[in-house]
Amino acid sequence: MRIESTALLVAASWLACVHAAVTWTATPFNPAAVPLAVRSPYLSAWLPQGSGTALNGGWPTFWTGTVVGWAGYVKVDGVAYNFLGAPTVAGAQKAVQKSLEFTSTQSTFIMTAGPIDLTVNFLSPVEPTDLVKQSLPFSYLTLSAAPNDGKSHEVQLYSDISAEWITGDNSLTANWSTTTGSVLTHQVQLANQSLFTEISDHIQQGSAFYSTHNTTGTTFQTGQDTVVRAQFIANGSLANTQDTNFRAVSDRWPVFAYAHDLGTVSKATLPVVLSVGHVRDPAIEYIIAGGALQQRSVFFWTQFSTVSAAISSFLDDFSGALTRAKAFDAKVNKDATAISSDYASIVALSIRQVFGATELTVSRDSSGKLNASDVLMFMKEISSDGNVNTVDVIFPSWPAFLYTNAALGKNLLLPLFEYQASGQYPNKWSVHDMGASYPKALGHNDGKDEAMPVEESGNMLIMTLSHAQRTGDHSLITTYFDLLDQWTQFLITDSLIPANQISTDDFAGSLANQTNLAIKGIVGIKAMAEIASLTGDSAKSANYSSIAASYVTQWQAFATSTTGKHLTLAYGNDSSWGLSYNLFADKLLGTNVFPQSVFDMQTSWYSTVANSFGVPLDTRHTYTKSDWEIWTAALVTSTSVRDLLVSSVRKYAADGSSSQPLGDWYETTDGAVEGFRARPVVGGHLALLTL
Ligand SMILES: *[C@@H]1O[C@H](CO)[C@@H](O)[C@H](O)[C@H]1NC(C)=O
Ligand SMILES: *[C@@H]1O[C@H](CO)[C@@H](O)[C@H](O)[C@H]1NC(C)=O
Ligand SMILES: *[C@@H]1O[C@H](CO)[C@@H](O)[C@H](O)[C@H]1NC(C)=O
Ligand SMILES: *[C@@H]1O[C@H](CO)[C@@H](O)[C@H](O)[C@H]1NC(C)=O
Ligand SMILES: *[C@@H]1O[C@H](CO)[C@@H](O)[C@H](O)[C@H]1NC(C)=O
Ligand SMILES: *[C@@H]1O[C@H](CO)[C@@H](O)[C@H](O)[C@H]1NC(C)=O
Ligand SMILES: *[C@@H]1O[C@H](CO)[C@@H](O)[C@H](O)[C@H]1NC(C)=O
Ligand SMILES: *[C@@H]1O[C@H](CO)[C@@H](O)[C@H](O)[C@H]1NC(C)=O
Repeated sequence: MRIESTALLVAASWLACVHAAVTWTATPFNPAAVPLAVRSPYLSAWLPQGSGTALNGGWPTFWTGTVVGWAGYVKVDGVAYNFLGAPTVAGAQKAVQKSLEFTSTQSTFIMTAGPIDLTVNFLSPVEPTDLVKQSLPFSYLTLSAAPNDGKSHEVQLYSDISAEWITGDNSLTANWSTTTGSVLTHQVQLANQSLFTEISDHIQQGSAFYSTHNTTGTTFQTGQDTVVRAQFIANGSLANTQDTNFRAVSDRWPVFAYAHDLGTVSKATLPVVLSVGHVRDPAIEYIIAGGALQQRSVFFWTQFSTVSAAISSFLDDFSGALTRAKAFDAKVNKDATAISSDYASIVALSIRQVFGATELTVSRDSSGKLNASDVLMFMKEISSDGNVNTVDVIFPSWPAFLYTNAALGKNLLLPLFEYQASGQYPNKWSVHDMGASYPKALGHNDGKDEAMPVEESGNMLIMTLSHAQRTGDHSLITTYFDLLDQWTQFLITDSLIPANQISTDDFAGSLANQTNLAIKGIVGIKAMAEIASLTGDSAKSANYSSIAASYVTQWQAFATSTTGKHLTLAYGNDSSWGLSYNLFADKLLGTNVFPQSVFDMQTSWYSTVANSFGVPLDTRHTYTKSDWEIWTAALVTSTSVRDLLVSSVRKYAADGSSSQPLGDWYETTDGAVEGFRARPVVGGHLALLTL
């Protein structure tokens, strides 16, 4: 990771002063931003709720904080209410938010519109064991109305999206079309497409889609926001007309709308189902042998030959998707509640965020046919920068994959292995990432990627062994044995006395002799001993095991403070300490190279140094990282210290001092967010579910 801007710090401290009153019930709590449609790096819509913005109190935003227009109205007995977004068209009142509930895959709002309660459900499926379903870049919005006064009412529904879903520059020209038939679809895109190019983190390629079934009473319209919304407010239906005056996104803001006439409503209605999506093809540019660039497509294309077929299937599948989502949500909730309800709430908020940073892709063979056996998963680092498959971002997020489907870990690591096995990367340690700017996975043939030699080499070894252990699939450890062994040589040389270098926490600066980095290197060496054992090289296994064991003994002398009360942050500096979260890897792998006494010592120490929002990352600053806080919760040997760490993160996530998608880097003294948001590293919040 690398920090590109400190502007967010300023925004965070400003927001900390704003405290609107929350009038709705929130289950389990009010997060800073509520996930609405979060499925890929480019389909990422959130409600920036902050300390109390209702679903109709502001606009949904992209993860960066810029608006993605999404508006909703409901008419009840001729009276119009706005329930989604913040349009300013005359003639409508505001519905009143009654409740918010989020689970791992759903965010549900109940909005009271006079005598009707409207249930507004946003479902972003997470289906890690079904690659087609997981890779469909669509989310559901469903609307159902129920009288709250026991009487019957005439109800019509309206929603639209703007063209802000397709670009980071609203001065660019969009064009659009509407397809009718049994499914209605609005498609909108930039008139001038740029492959693999982002502006302000939005891809300048592909199209946004807004769709619904053509049921009785469904009408559509495209046109200027104020015109189309006024049409509904006046009439309760749309004109089935298309505006073909293609123009800039912000020029008389074109919107893409549907209305659904529910007729007379006397009891809760079946949900009206809409889908929103963003599709592009090809999706990823990827370096292969000899520097050739391969264009890769999203996995769902192996199953569908057109976007409209994919959309029809997605809409038709709603009730199945909801059933599966409820089962998934219930399982995660049950497993996480076994730790604590605070823990379950953090996990539920994290899952869409981690999967929403990823995409599953396939290549084409020489005849252009998609190769469903060649599955690579790509991850965008998000917000700290736009790197592709950053090893030390995959690493903290790894528990989310181990818990939901460990086999996916292979698809996520494969790009890194294939690239480095191709011989194009010149360094003897593991590469930091697959490319500086998503979605271009172009490698670093100049070897000048952000160097984190011990960090990334250790990470690759630890993740690769855990994949083999959890899946029984030995293909990575056999195919890439030489590469793994090469990284191990580097760790043998550099991890007991780590040279001055950065770790994943690069924002804290570089340091020599980092205790926590040495832990990672030593576990990495031991991981290679296990890998050698699994592949039948017992001599190598014994040698590396004994090296790891001897390093642990020496490390204990270097790394323990003279008081014997804690590990230091850096060797020899008794006044320093930090979260030694890499010890979690020793538990995860069951390698047990570090003695129990070290875990016990750290556990006692953390109970004495916690601030109001948790234990600082280390003694250089008072900030911390939520992912490492939870990794640490997973390695401590006391339930009360575990719960202290977990509850600190929950307190931060629920404190209303930010309105951005969950940021992993925050201040332990007052819970203010630091510079990161929406990053997949929150997958690390699942660490306790992997043991
Ligand atoms: C919806 O379906 C009906 C019945 O098939 C058809 O008459 C109507 O034209 C369709 N509406 C749209 C907007 O395609
Ligand atoms: C809209 O733009 C796309 C992308 O440049 C182009 O392929 C398509 O023909 C355009 N459609 C219309 C209706 O102009
Ligand atoms: C299309 O976009 C590219 C890159 O963003 C730009 O260089 C080019 O001038 C644009 N073309 C038109 C016709 O706007
Ligand atoms: C309402 O819709 C109907 C049918 O589309 C149309 O004839 C009528 O002019 C509309 N009225 C208003 C006020 O827009
Ligand atoms: C499909 O991908 C697999 C896995 O990468 C590869 O072994 C196979 O050769 C590919 N098939 C074709 C036809 O390219
Ligand atoms: C790192 O620690 C070792 C062992 O204590 C010591 O010999 C060496 O001087 C330290 N290096 C730095 C740069 O502090
Ligand atoms: C053990 O591994 C180290 C590092 O690769 C190597 O230098 C040494 O020769 C090995 N020892 C034996 C006995 O194989
Ligand atoms: C020891 O660590 C403390 C806390 O991180 C730091 O302020 C101090 O500068 C360090 N001392 C040395 C000699 O590096």
